[in-house]
Amino acid sequence: MQPTTADIPHHIAIVMDGNGRWARQRFLPRLAGHAQGVESLRRCVRACAARGVGVLTVFAFSSENWNRPADEVSGLMGLLAKALAREVPELSRDGVCVRFVGEKAGLSDSVRRGLEQAEQLTAGNTRLVLNVCFNYGGRWDIAQAAAALAARGEPITEASLHAAMGLAHVPDPDLVIRTGGEMRISNFLLWQAAYSEFFFSPRFWPDFDEAALDEAIASYGARERRFGRTSEQVRSPAPKVQPVALRA
Ligand code: IPE
Ligand code: IPE
Ligand code: MG
Repeated sequence: MQPTTADIPHHIAIVMDGNGRWARQRFLPRLAGHAQGVESLRRCVRACAARGVGVLTVFAFSSENWNRPADEVSGLMGLLAKALAREVPELSRDGVCVRFVGEKAGLSDSVRRGLEQAEQLTAGNTRLVLNVCFNYGGRWDIAQAAAALAARGEPITEASLHAAMGLAHVPDPDLVIRTGGEMRISNFLLWQAAYSEFFFSPRFWPDFDEAALDEAIASYGARERRFGRTSEQVRSPAPKVQPVALRA
């Protein structure tokens, strides 16, 4: 059965995991898995846009991924720079607005410039917002937001923290998908996923195709989001329950 618009999550966030194992299965170097991961991301962006998803947030490099072997880290940086140069014109034509979310300190000038150019080039696009979490950690995000508020002498509240965090420009994710079979959050959207629905796929990220995405969306469509209320409250009288408001 085709999902109706109401069943389509507005914001999907994905932990794109399993590239290394995908490569190992094929006796390929891990970096070949990451390269295939870029292809999978391109397919996923298109599929999300076609299904009316408004925001796609992807975890591409975590604060902890610096702990990997140096050649894998530099390979991932190179892949990102190449992918940006290659994909951004087409993403822009397709109406995708690219946003970089993460800590800029620690990234090379060329990677940082590539990310900034991608943001500038696509800034006016409105079909789909693609947030690329790179050098990102949920703990970093909360801490940097608190530090920014403290530096400005502003009160720390749920609403002010939220506004100072990396995803302040979009609503919280409705659906968080993790591929690769692990059932953990690995320091992804610790704050923003407070009321997200989770979907764990055993598929490695390069194998996560349109059918797998539709399976995740269908699973989301069958969930009852209660935001602290009871099932009876959710079902009547108003069918649509609003997320919990942030405390000012
Ligand atoms: C996810 O794939 C991509 C990044 C973390 C950059 P992995 O590289 O973690 O793949 P596995 O988990 O080793 O299979
Ligand atoms: C999470 O995957 C980070 C990204 C997908 C970018 P990891 O492979 O780094 O997570 P752990 O280490 O298995 O928890
Ligand atoms: Mg992994």
